[in-house]
Amino acid sequence: MALLTAGISSGQVTLFVAFIWSIVAWIYAEYLHSRRAPAKHGDEESPRKEEAAKLLSNGSSSESAALSSAHGNGTDSSNGNGTLEESTHVSKAYGVHSNMWESMTNSGLVSCLLLKQQAIEQHRLTLRAIVEFGLLIIWYFVADRTTIIPEGEKSYSRDVFIFLFVVLTSVALGTSIRAFKMPLLLNRPQTEEWKGWMQVLFLLYHYFEAKEVYNAIRIFIAAYVWMTGFGNFSYYYKTGDFCIGRFAQMLWRLNFLVFFVCVILRNSYMLYYICPMHTIFTVFVYIALAIAPQLNSNHGWLFVKILLSFLFIFLTWDLKFIFYAIWSPFKFVLGYSDPRNPTDDTLHEWYFRSGLDRYIWVYGMLCALMHPKASAMLKYIDDLPTLRRYTARTIVLSFCAVAGYVYYITIYCKPKYEYNEVHPYTSWIPITLWIVVRNITPWLRVHSMRLYGWLGCITLETYISQFHIWMKSDIPDGQPKSLLVLIPGYPLLNFALVSALYILVSHRLFDLTNYLKNVAVPHSNNALLLRNVILMVLTSIVLYTLVTAIYIATGKIWS
Ligand SMILES: *[C@@H]1O[C@H](CO)[C@@H](O)[C@H](O)[C@H]1NC(C)=O
Repeated sequence: MALLTAGISSGQVTLFVAFIWSIVAWIYAEYLHSRRAPAKHGDEESPRKEEAAKLLSNGSSSESAALSSAHGNGTDSSNGNGTLEESTHVSKAYGVHSNMWESMTNSGLVSCLLLKQQAIEQHRLTLRAIVEFGLLIIWYFVADRTTIIPEGEKSYSRDVFIFLFVVLTSVALGTSIRAFKMPLLLNRPQTEEWKGWMQVLFLLYHYFEAKEVYNAIRIFIAAYVWMTGFGNFSYYYKTGDFCIGRFAQMLWRLNFLVFFVCVILRNSYMLYYICPMHTIFTVFVYIALAIAPQLNSNHGWLFVKILLSFLFIFLTWDLKFIFYAIWSPFKFVLGYSDPRNPTDDTLHEWYFRSGLDRYIWVYGMLCALMHPKASAMLKYIDDLPTLRRYTARTIVLSFCAVAGYVYYITIYCKPKYEYNEVHPYTSWIPITLWIVVRNITPWLRVHSMRLYGWLGCITLETYISQFHIWMKSDIPDGQPKSLLVLIPGYPLLNFALVSALYILVSHRLFDLTNYLKNVAVPHSNNALLLRNVILMVLTSIVLYTLVTAIYIATGKIWS
């Protein structure tokens, strides 16, 4: 017990029991699979291909394949023929409520829990993903909450901080620039690249405790939130797709990893404030556009919706008593108190963090609305005769330079607390200037650095992982005050090794989150989605209750 830095909770035991069960089921699945494989000698590739197809499909087919085998008529589960038929049959069946019970008992989850051979084998890859996910979370626990791996102190050197960023950017520039056939303003590879380099600076800021770049980091966080407003608005605006399945997948993507990390490490959700913040603003964008969607084809009405969003935020954030009235009932998820610096006002962290970026997602929506106009303007400049084209660009860039300089001396240079006061109302300035400069010529728009783009895709995972397998927080709800040390005495070599491991693990967690998302959250079958949610919640509650009952019965003090 001296190995652990805190007691054990029944939530942790619950997940551990589930993990052990998954290992057993997975080994059984591999055994069943290996027994079957030689028999299908000439046809070895086909089941694998089918599994890959399932992996890529939106999950409903995988689920219904499980159902089809569980129905007992699919004697050969690797024969995909029946799958589609079954799936339409099944989705029709869900329209009728009396079939809900049947579909639950026939689901992959329940069949696997009952150790039905066919279901276990069918879900071999899912079980494997669960086991791998569990192992990585155990690595979180071992690295952060035991004394097995030593810790080191942070130390800041501006030289090293800038050096690392310059080296990485040079590599990205030298080896990973790629041209995408997307001449569009703010295309996807470009926003990914943007997220990537900001994330690198954000992480280095934490690792080295580079206090002097605090204000810049605040702008980067604002830029992420801006992208949430921009990206989500563009999507709903262009597609009009408000389907619950897709929305649920997004929520899963944002909260799956953080949920398990919170239970296993006994942390508050608010320790990873980026997650609740993006979740709530994603929900707000959805609501803004999903209410009266018929108005979305009209620019004027969209503009009104955006104005109303500003007004809504003003009323519910700027008027602090309304904010507290709204969020107090949610203290149990959004409360936070740093154990090294405790407070009674546990909602303050949520108020402060979400407050900093409360307007920028609305501005992101506004930018998305103006996007076609801005694109047309850029195109207009691109099409000018050479001399006038260069003149126009020079004027725009000069304006940006002056605006940037004024912004820098009047706002950016303020000390931390004064800066935080004005941040919510000014963060749009550097963000807008950057967008203009980054997109001023077609060449700049088309090219981006894939190294940063790659890192930009796994920002959520690197954000959560940094607390525990790159740095160390030691105790529940603790901030990551120290560093993980695998090579004592060599801070830079240690940095290199731990970082490599940390990026690798983060990337795996990204893949596993997506894989499990596709299995558990069907994209376009609401009845199946509802069934899966009920099943997952029920299974968790039953298991948790059992474990807690045993805990009370044995009178052990686990937490
Ligand atoms: C909406 O925002 C969330 C949070 O940033 C993000 O994960 C998701 O990809 C966005 N959706 C779209 C369609 O851009």
